[in-house]
Amino acid sequence: MKRFLSILCTVGIAMSALTVPAFASEGEVSIQEQQQMINVAHRGASGHAPENTMSAFEKGFEMKADYIEIDVQMSKDGELVLIHDTTLDRTTNGTGFVSDYTLEEIRELDAGSWFSEEYTGEKVPTFEEVLDAFRGKTGILIELKAPELYPGIEEKVAVALKERNMHGAQNNKIVIQSFNHESVKKSRELLPELPHAVLAGMSWENVTDEQLVEFATYSDYFNPNMNMVTTELVDRVHDAGMKIYPYTSRSPEEAYHLFSLNVDGIISDFPEHVYYHPVKNN
Ligand code: G3P
Ligand code: CA
Repeated sequence: MKRFLSILCTVGIAMSALTVPAFASEGEVSIQEQQQMINVAHRGASGHAPENTMSAFEKGFEMKADYIEIDVQMSKDGELVLIHDTTLDRTTNGTGFVSDYTLEEIRELDAGSWFSEEYTGEKVPTFEEVLDAFRGKTGILIELKAPELYPGIEEKVAVALKERNMHGAQNNKIVIQSFNHESVKKSRELLPELPHAVLAGMSWENVTDEQLVEFATYSDYFNPNMNMVTTELVDRVHDAGMKIYPYTSRSPEEAYHLFSLNVDGIISDFPEHVYYHPVKNN
């Protein structure tokens, strides 16, 4: 059945060429729905609101994404804040490294007006603020961003989760990931009951089966750059016992392409490209 759906999907892409693919109309069941594709709102629904802000996370939740993805870094005074770049320049009205500012200083910045005037005054959220706002409402894919710059970040994340009793096996929609695989290993030791994910940039394009098997000793997911994904890679990741959520889809065509490759989830700036559906249990 999955193969049949894959073929249908591929034919759909070919027919639609560069036009926007037609999603199922009311009353029909879409290919996406049948495949139960996991929908991850990248940095929140960052195609619609400024990334890594409460507005983007709320939008992702409203759009019924299965997970919101967040990037965690640390302020000068050791507080966990959510921002993608290691500098403030692109997404706030500040300049310089995140690690050179206290939480109080970071909270004074405007993290919204670079995206649109409508979001002027939006603040850089704290990790704890987002845990408190979204626990039990949606999955949270927690990226430890550049953890090599922030000694002890894994422990601080673990403490915040444990304080909220979000560290047990029942919290299987709290997932921790990083491009820094040593950091993933460390986090796994601190939070053995939570699922973890290895992020893989294009330098891992030729990842071997042996490497995948090693990742699987401490990870439940292998989340690669979407440009390296093939059906063969998907099969090899599954054979190693992991799931695969590629990043970052930014168009309906890219989402459809990933569907056709039989991935388990899609990390996208636009949840509507993946599918609107209620939170599902993994
Ligand atoms: O979740 C995957 C994705 O967020 C990794 O890339 O650079 O957007 O953090 P980046
Ligand atoms: Ca990220």
